[in-house]
Amino acid sequence: IHRVGVLSAGGDCPGINAVIHAVVKKAILDYQMEVYGIFDGFAGLVEGRWRTLQYNDVSGIMPLGGTILGTSNKANPFKYPCTEYGKLCFKDLSQEVIDNYHSMGLQALIAIGGDGTFHISNCFIKKGLSIVGVPKTIDNDLSETDFTFGFDSAVWVATDAIDRLHTTAQAHHRVMVVEVMGRYAGWIALHSGIAGGGDVILIPEIHYNIDNVCTFIRKRIAAGKKFSIVVVAEGSKPQGGDYTILRKIEESHDQIRLGGIGHVIGEQIEEKTGIETRVVILGHLLRGGSPTPYDRVLASRFGAAAVDLVAQEQFGLFPALRGNEIMPTPIKKAIEKLKIIPLNHSLLQVARSTGTCLGE
Ligand code: F6P
Repeated sequence: IHRVGVLSAGGDCPGINAVIHAVVKKAILDYQMEVYGIFDGFAGLVEGRWRTLQYNDVSGIMPLGGTILGTSNKANPFKYPCTEYGKLCFKDLSQEVIDNYHSMGLQALIAIGGDGTFHISNCFIKKGLSIVGVPKTIDNDLSETDFTFGFDSAVWVATDAIDRLHTTAQAHHRVMVVEVMGRYAGWIALHSGIAGGGDVILIPEIHYNIDNVCTFIRKRIAAGKKFSIVVVAEGSKPQGGDYTILRKIEESHDQIRLGGIGHVIGEQIEEKTGIETRVVILGHLLRGGSPTPYDRVLASRFGAAAVDLVAQEQFGLFPALRGNEIMPTPIKKAIEKLKIIPLNHSLLQVARSTGTCLGE
């Protein structure tokens, strides 16, 4: 393989630049490959926007958040957003991607992304493109890998926020509801909730009972704890409830945006307990800033392993983390289902047995 493309697609997260750093340096040093950086995810392949990445172009990018290539979580080439007569419509522009891939002389493509990117990549693999994935998302909801890079950084930011909310909650004798991202999985909420000592942790995998949450908060007050921290995953749902808070649903587009359930829960807690409650939605703060050392190392390992897969012409795979080993794994296996928290997960037991309310 002489020429490889690299793109980052889907929502950004800390560590993408660490992957690009590893990909470019290793491809050049170990395999004398040329690397083309494609801009804004699959949008760059649809529109033919890219640049050559030289060794020096990636010097010093390791600690930077975001991605030097840009990204897009709307640019699915099979349902590409276009405007016709002032109206939004979606077109299949996958052939443009295939044509540009060939006209750029690419022999392989490294696609850094999560579940959505892997779905798109799998469709192009079926159409004959040679793709290797790199697993990225703060949500940690990609199957077949123990962890994705970006997750540790997001948990770090959320934990720091919970620590800060603790002191102000304590000072004012308030309930603080803190909502974190995670889509349909509660990994960020569970990890940061445990690390930050959240009193209540609500996750999509366990539907909550608001009365049980309020009873728990009242009991804390009776025991002399005049404040409570409630960590809520954005995809949390009430028991028997038929609603999820959707900021926006775009018809005929894959994306459903979550967020805002924290406000509903905060209002209910204040109303039912009479305790002053404040709500903080962390949202995109979890995706910004410098990656943690753990994420830098993991992203570098994934990037280097992806280049080896390309050199060995082992396509349709991605490097997954299992235990402490990097294992080449089929992309199509990872997209069979999202990795949500299993109800017998040991961390749920850790939370329960250290006195945390899971809203059950
Ligand atoms: O998948 C990553 C993620 O940050 C989710 O946690 C969140 O629901 C979503 O992306 C938000 O996406 P957007 O960038 O469209 O706001």
